[in-house]
Amino acid sequence: MHVLDRTIVRVLPVIPRSVVQRLSSRYIAGATLDDARRVIAALNEEGKLATVDVLGEEVIGREEAEAVASAYHAVLDAIFADRLDANVSVKLTALGLEFDLDLCRSLLATIVADGAARDVFVRIDMEHSGCTDDTLRLYRELREAGRDNVGIVLQSRLKRTLADADALADLRPNVRLCKGIYVEPPAIAYESREHVRESFLQALDALLGGGSYVAVATHDEWLLQRTLARFSAMSPGDYELQMLLGVREERASELVSTGHRTRIYVPYGQRWYEYSLRRLQENPALAGAIAGATLKRVVPGTD
Ligand code: FDA
Repeated sequence: MHVLDRTIVRVLPVIPRSVVQRLSSRYIAGATLDDARRVIAALNEEGKLATVDVLGEEVIGREEAEAVASAYHAVLDAIFADRLDANVSVKLTALGLEFDLDLCRSLLATIVADGAARDVFVRIDMEHSGCTDDTLRLYRELREAGRDNVGIVLQSRLKRTLADADALADLRPNVRLCKGIYVEPPAIAYESREHVRESFLQALDALLGGGSYVAVATHDEWLLQRTLARFSAMSPGDYELQMLLGVREERASELVSTGHRTRIYVPYGQRWYEYSLRRLQENPALAGAIAGATLKRVVPGTD
């Protein structure tokens, strides 16, 4: 990353919310469920599937966790009512994972049961490494209780991932495989891009070898090419590719037009600001655009 870009990334949190909102609007469906419905319907028109994320991290109490769960029930209602080709992605910290495991377990079980009643799949997102064990445990409990409309995420950045894939093999899990977005200590995580990629392909091979349905979530063309080579011997319904809303949209359309199931991660909600900052911090080109937009506010007439 360019030095100037790094500086901009550091000052992002002090950039006016209106600027952040404008620049990041492509990454967020909007603040309301109706916004998400419209975006998903448009994606479906293009042949893309969706997975809906209600933005609500850093939940600190029971009432907030219950409110997040209610929002997911409303999303399931909307998917069913509008016949959307979509499922949901749930962060367990938003359901209380870090302060009340039993509460989290019961809210998740209710969401998964509601999903099953409406034939909608529930993906449990994976968060920082402090959550991995509990997340995997809750996933296993649901599967052992007979739920099969639920899946998990593995992160190739973590050194434990191959072992986790092995440990889950008896469940033939439905797995979203990604690099992992959280910064983790070097003792437990690969740091170089090469190691993260290598670990990704090892986990992918292990999961496919075990008969898992794998959703490969990456925008990394190098990984995408190697993934597609592996998928070429499989039927299109037996795997999927996933990307984030607003990232590499043309590539996603190309994947659809060449017959690959392609699902877009659609975040919506009141907490759009925090999600936007994360997306912008990962994208130096947009950080540069922010600098331009800010300069224009300070010095009108600059271009
Ligand atoms: P990489 O970061 O190398 O990106 C490749 C290229 O894609 C970049 O050079 C850039 O051009 C473009 N790009 C990538 N991200 C961009 C962005 N935000 N804005 C603009 N351009 C961008 N992580 C996690 O820890 N737990 C989870 O549950 C999930 N879930 C998830 C679902 C889906 C559908 C996706 C696509 C990703 C996740 N992730 C995730 C995030 C994932 O772990 C990873 O951090 C990001 O996808 C970035 O890594 P890539 O593999 O895309 O490669």
